[in-house]
Amino acid sequence: MAKQNIYILGIESSCDDTAASVIYNGKILSNVVANQKIHQEYGGVVPELASRAHQQNIVPVVHQALQKANIKKEQLNAVAFTRGPGLMGSLLVGTSFAKSLAYGLNIPLIDVNHMQAHILAHFIDEEGFDKPEFPFLAMTISGGHTQIVKVKNYFNMEVIGETIDDAVGEAFDKSGKILGLNYPAGPEIDKLAQLGNPKAFKFTKPKVDGLNFSFSGLKTAILYFIQREVKANPNFIDENLNDICASIQYTIIGILIDKLKLATKQTGIKQIAIGGGVSANSGIRQALKDGEQKYGWKSYIPKFEFTTDNAAMIAIVGYLKYLDKDFAEQDVTASARLKI
Ligand code: KG4
Ligand code: ZN
Repeated sequence: MAKQNIYILGIESSCDDTAASVIYNGKILSNVVANQKIHQEYGGVVPELASRAHQQNIVPVVHQALQKANIKKEQLNAVAFTRGPGLMGSLLVGTSFAKSLAYGLNIPLIDVNHMQAHILAHFIDEEGFDKPEFPFLAMTISGGHTQIVKVKNYFNMEVIGETIDDAVGEAFDKSGKILGLNYPAGPEIDKLAQLGNPKAFKFTKPKVDGLNFSFSGLKTAILYFIQREVKANPNFIDENLNDICASIQYTIIGILIDKLKLATKQTGIKQIAIGGGVSANSGIRQALKDGEQKYGWKSYIPKFEFTTDNAAMIAIVGYLKYLDKDFAEQDVTASARLKI
């Protein structure tokens, strides 16, 4: 990659995190995220509230990102923003802000696909983190996404499997809700699972052909199981919480690993990069490491702050596109269902 002195501001607002980041060449100078706590009360993201919170957060978040990077906005070479996919009201805030800023500074505007960004986050220069070599498989797992993508080059990607209903993070969060845990329940289930027996309770894995996923049946199975057990013993959840969490996590990870095994078999590619909030899960991390021994995989897990929704991943894509002079026009619009 040719080294030039390029500063890019990345802006992310596709869901419930307002984020801004400055990247200098391939290196992140600042990565600011404002989480929206308001959704916790509702047990999930409320789109109208998310949009309103983005409007309140965007100016201070961008200001902080520039300040932490120790640069003035006039030094920026381009503004990159998430065009989609995501919640329309949320995307519109980042899109309009990025457009106005680029217009005001008279610098290029760069549109970024959020799903590509989760994958290309692996190309941020970060000590101790290797970059995957092409071609590789990327599995993006979060509260909003579950995809397996064949990545042939930076911008040549093919979705080879995805969820037909809930995302894997939702499977964690909705199971947690059934157990009375707070939203988002993924991290808590992970913690409780460490002290439980993963084989204490058995949940049937969904049968979905090929590389697609389904998680809604599992959620229903867990709900019925808990209802039945609680009827017989009102203290069932409290008395078995660690085992229940360990069993749920074991089942979900089993589903992901089965699909990865199939994907590596079908494509012949054994390099696997993961991204999205669920890649923080200790079980999936261990399963990928085990896969290196058992199946000869090479796995890549990015630094945590680049794996949940963030703007550093938007900034790195902005940088890669800047080098290609792949700019957007001022009439570019947000796209809630943007495809890879
Ligand atoms: O990427 P992210 O921050 O936001 C989007 O959904 O795009 O991912 C959040 C999701 C939530 O569903 C959360 O429960 C899940 O990631 N999550 C985890 C863990 N940490 C976060 N799930 C399982 N184990 C974890 N350690
Ligand atoms: Zn995301």
